[in-house]
Amino acid sequence: MSIHKGGGFGMKAIVINQLGGPEVMIYQEVPMPKYEADEVLIRVLKTSVNFADVKNRRGQKSKGNFPLILGLDLVGVIEEVGEEVKDLEVGQRVIAFPKSGSYAEYAVAHELLTYPIPANISMETAAASPIVSFLSYQLLHSVGGLQQGESVLIHSGAGGVGTTAIRMAKYLGAKQIFATVGHESKMEKALQVGADAVFTYDNFTEKIITKTEGEGVNLVLDSVAGNVTARSVACLSLYGRLVHFGNSSGEVGEVKTKDVHASCRSFLGYSLGTTRKHKPELLKKISGHVIKLLQSKAIEVEIGHQFYLQEMSEAHKLIEERRHQGKIIIHVND
Ligand SMILES: NC(=O)c1ccc[n+]([C@@H]2O[C@H](COP(=O)([O-])OP(=O)(O)OC[C@H]3O[C@@H](n4cnc5c(N)ncnc54)[C@H](OP(=O)(O)O)[C@@H]3O)[C@@H](O)[C@H]2O)c1
Repeated sequence: MSIHKGGGFGMKAIVINQLGGPEVMIYQEVPMPKYEADEVLIRVLKTSVNFADVKNRRGQKSKGNFPLILGLDLVGVIEEVGEEVKDLEVGQRVIAFPKSGSYAEYAVAHELLTYPIPANISMETAAASPIVSFLSYQLLHSVGGLQQGESVLIHSGAGGVGTTAIRMAKYLGAKQIFATVGHESKMEKALQVGADAVFTYDNFTEKIITKTEGEGVNLVLDSVAGNVTARSVACLSLYGRLVHFGNSSGEVGEVKTKDVHASCRSFLGYSLGTTRKHKPELLKKISGHVIKLLQSKAIEVEIGHQFYLQEMSEAHKLIEERRHQGKIIIHVND
C-alpha cells in the first residue's frame, strides 16, 4: 500500500524552474516532499555538490521536471518513517541518496538508500562522503577489480571523486597511483592525498609508459572521456581495465574493438545513478563496509570548500569554472 505523508507544510530549498547557469538556482519556500511506506523523511543537515548537479542544471543529463530540486547526497536526521520501514527509526543520524533533491531542508529517501552513521564520524565527513566513497569503492574494487600491487590512473585527481579514489586505491593496495589534473596548480592536492605522480591531460600517456617501463597501467578510472579515453587506452597494460563513469569534458570518448581482443583488456562502465535506481540492495550491501572505512579513518574525504544553502550559486560557479579542489559541502540546517 502506498501512503503519502509529509507535504503538509513548507520548507526552504534551492529550486530551478528553467535550465541554465548558476543564476537559475533560487532559494525559496516550497512544499515538503511526500514519502511512501518504504521511505523516510530526513531533516537535511548538510549536503554536497557533485558535478552531476551542474550537468542536471544545464540539462545535459535530463530535460528537467520543473520545479526541480537538485542534490544527490546528504547527511541528516530521520524525522518520520514510512509504515513498512523495518531497520530505521526517528532520530537516527543517517547518510542517504535521496529520491527528492538534497538542496533542501527536508528530503525523502528509500530505506535501502539510507544508512545510519556512527557517532564518531564527523558531520562534515559524512556529508562529503556518500557519492565519492561508495563510488570509489565500487569503481576500484567491484568493477575495476583492483588487485594488490597493481597500478592505477585516476583522472581529475584533485576533484571530489578523484581525491577519494586516490585514497581508496592506496587502501586497496595499489602499488603505483598516477593522476591527472587540468592545471598544474592542482597537482599538489593529488600528491597530498597519495598519488605517486601527477600529470596534465596533454602528456600523461607518454609519462605513464615511461614510469611503468613500457608495460602500461593496470586500471584507469575515466570520468573525462573525449580524447582522454583513447589516450588512456594507449597506456593501458595487457589485461588492463578501463572503467568509464563520466564525461566531464562534454565529449564522447571512442574505443575500438581491436583495442581489447589480443591484449585481453576490458572496457567497463558504471553508474551510481543506475545502481541506485535498479539495484539499491547492492549499495546497502557495501554500505556497512564503506562506513567502517570512514569510521576507522582508513579513508578520509577531502573537504575543499564550504557554503550555506543560500550560497549555492557561488558553489556551482566554483565547480563549473574548475577552481575547486576536493569536495564542496553545503550547510543546510545547522
Ligand atoms: N558514474 C557515476 O555514478 C558518477 C558519480 C559521481 C561522479 N561521476 C563523475 O565523476 C567525475 C567527477 O565528479 P565530481 O562530482 O567529483 O566532480 P569533480 O571531480 O570535483 O569536478 C569535476 C572535474 O572535472 C574536471 N574536468 C575535466 N574536463 C572538464 C571540463 N571540460 N569542464 C569542467 N570540468 C572538467 C575538472 O578537473 P580538472 O580541472 O582537474 O580537469 C573538474 O574539477 C565527473 O565526471 C562526474 O560526472 C560519476
